Amino acid sequence: MTAAHPAGAQVGAVVVAAGRGERLGGGVPKALVEVGGRTLVARAVDGLRRAGVATIVVVHPPSEADAFAAVLHDTSILAPGGEDRSASVRAGLDALPPDVTLVAVHDAARAFTPPEVIAAAIRAVTGDVVAAAPALPVADTLKRVDGDDVVATLDRAGVVAVQTPQVFPRAVIRAVGVAGASATDDLGLVEARLAAGELDGRVVWVPGSPRALKVTYPDDLVIAEALARGEASAT
Ligand code: CTP
Ligand code: MG
Repeated sequence: MTAAHPAGAQVGAVVVAAGRGERLGGGVPKALVEVGGRTLVARAVDGLRRAGVATIVVVHPPSEADAFAAVLHDTSILAPGGEDRSASVRAGLDALPPDVTLVAVHDAARAFTPPEVIAAAIRAVTGDVVAAAPALPVADTLKRVDGDDVVATLDRAGVVAVQTPQVFPRAVIRAVGVAGASATDDLGLVEARLAAGELDGRVVWVPGSPRALKVTYPDDLVIAEALARGEASAT
């Protein structure tokens, strides 16, 4: 899939893969966990490449540079990550070559995100759109709780669960200053600037995919293995 991006934009990606994967367990950084014989990080990079993204920075746990180089053995740029996800995003942005004008920030843990979904998020950042991400309507009923108490039922209409990649003009993501801010979701930083009147534009979502699940808990690996088997039998 090529020419997925707005005319003239030079698209780059930051794959954040520096987390420890504590909820998954196993003693290996989550991005190096193999599913169907390939690491999550290699699968995430491959998905971006298939969506037409040529320049990719992979942010790894600082002590794991050699292990990441060994599994990626391609032209990805490696950068050591930080203490939390935001710090790792910042490290990745700093390592992007200067010619990149549009940035897709992607979780290595969402290794099975279909290339079509990645391409659609990239295409969406055009005109007055300053950020875009894939998202899915929420299937579960949502409740507000207070400790053990269920205190309210939330209206599910108009609610989506956001995935990655989250895509921004480079100047926007720099301006919203991932600097210092701590966030599990980069889109939120842009929304806050828009709400404060400090930035103009729109944040949009495009249809995401159940395949873009974030591998978080051991049970997610069962789903991921099934997705890997499905891919293998389709090729
Ligand atoms: N991440 C990162 N640097 C950090 C923390 C997280 O690059 N300091 C990345 C993870 O590698 C992952 C993504 O951000 O691809 C989403 O984070 P999460 O799913 O929470 O992964 P982990 O932090 O590794 O998992 P856990 O919270 O269970 O330890
Ligand atoms: Mg985490």
